[in-house]
Amino acid sequence: MMALSWLLVLLAITSTTISTNPGVTVRLTDKGLQYGKQLGIAALQKELQSVHIPDYSGSEHVSPIGKVTYSLTNMRLVNTGLPRSAVNLVPGTGVRLTIGDAFMNLHGDWRVKYLRIIKDSGSFDVNVNGLTISTTIAVKSDETGRPVVSNTNCVATVGSAKVKFHGGASWLYNLFSKFINKALCKALQEQICPLVDKTVAGLNPKLKTLNVLAKVDKYAEIEYSMVSSPAVSQSSIDLNLKGEFYNIGKHQEPPFTPAAFSLPSENNNMLYMALSAFTANSAAFVYNKAGVLSLYITDDMVPKSSPFRLDTKTFGVFIPQIAKQYPGLMMKMLVRAEKNPSVTFQPKNATLQATGTVTAYAIQHNGTLSPLFVLNLESSVSADVFVRGLSVAGHLTLNEMKLSLGTSYVGPFQVGSIDSALRTVLKIVVIPIVNVQLDKGYPLPALGKMNLVKPQIQIMKDYMLIGTDVDFTG
Ligand SMILES: *[C@@H]1O[C@H](CO)[C@@H](O)[C@H](O)[C@H]1NC(C)=O
Ligand SMILES: *[C@@H]1O[C@H](CO)[C@@H](O)[C@H](O)[C@H]1NC(C)=O
Repeated sequence: MMALSWLLVLLAITSTTISTNPGVTVRLTDKGLQYGKQLGIAALQKELQSVHIPDYSGSEHVSPIGKVTYSLTNMRLVNTGLPRSAVNLVPGTGVRLTIGDAFMNLHGDWRVKYLRIIKDSGSFDVNVNGLTISTTIAVKSDETGRPVVSNTNCVATVGSAKVKFHGGASWLYNLFSKFINKALCKALQEQICPLVDKTVAGLNPKLKTLNVLAKVDKYAEIEYSMVSSPAVSQSSIDLNLKGEFYNIGKHQEPPFTPAAFSLPSENNNMLYMALSAFTANSAAFVYNKAGVLSLYITDDMVPKSSPFRLDTKTFGVFIPQIAKQYPGLMMKMLVRAEKNPSVTFQPKNATLQATGTVTAYAIQHNGTLSPLFVLNLESSVSADVFVRGLSVAGHLTLNEMKLSLGTSYVGPFQVGSIDSALRTVLKIVVIPIVNVQLDKGYPLPALGKMNLVKPQIQIMKDYMLIGTDVDFTG
């Protein structure tokens, strides 16, 4: 007993250490489940139209008439109703669907022959009432990391069938009612669960549209495959996704891993998506690795309306040696990240810290670049994030900037004297260019044909949370 419990403790520890924290969690709430139920019931109702009741024929001895041969043909469903249904979460498994008080109305033709020569025919209506269906839909992860559902433990029962004949003699009614009742109940019981199976299986092609590898641009893609089986609790289904940016084609892991985070117990929306700081930082890692976090700045990138020009005259105001040694020349600057920029999420606060260098050059008349100085730059920018369509986009504003001198090629000078010039360069050139990129947006995890309805976004500790309703068009 002792040994066994130690083994269990060991297993528990091992499995927590090897488990992977998700970068992104998508939560389906009860409200989302109820919306899903509406779609599911509509799909099932459509599927039930294909219930097929076989023709019946045979003969029976009826006294005092003798042998009666009969046939019931062309039975078809004219109406079906699923007025009462419920879905509940089954922790650890998936979803339980129960349907009660369902009904079906059928119409068919009857035909009899007796006393050798007498033939009669007419039609009939059947009302099947008290149909109940209950089933459990298991939610799992498939081999591609997408959710997959399967139907288990389906039970269908038929309450009663009432037959109303049109035409014919009343003694026939008793004869048929018995058969129709039995035949119908059997046929329906045999066919309903397979049709429920088919309806549930029909969800899988839709779930397969989850964008497990979402392309961002020519450098990056985001992996949204599940890192573990869906977690079904009393109140939600959580899909734990990798949520990691990768260089297209070469998936190199960054030197950091996702921290565990837990979602608040809100349930006003159908869906919540939590995107961790890890996801944002994996983006920074990828773009830095791709070598795209550097930018040459020339005067033509400075808005015409600005009095600030990128030339030795302007910088000569702050560092007189520049105007003296390189009079009347235009300048060029290289701003480059020296480390992976890092994103932190604090409640209501998304901040990006970037460390880099700024190298300034004078452009000689023959095109040669003469270096003037190299500065070390530490900047902190705040990010506004917003949802557009099925993407999350951002907008940065400069918070703080710290400069220190790396190298000077023009003799000693006070770094503080060009602080405002550098701040201007960041504000009117660098950040607007970054913002154009961020404004293009980054794809969220989504199923095909899904739309977000009134998404709201808030920054929480270590993640940003998008709460939204959804609808599926088509
Ligand atoms: C946001 O957080 C950063 C550090 O993560 C801090 O420097 C900054 O002052 C905060 N901004 C606000 C508005 O609280
Ligand atoms: C370009 O002009 C500068 C300054 O006049 C000079 O020092 C340099 O040698 C020139 N370079 C070339 C390639 O002509």
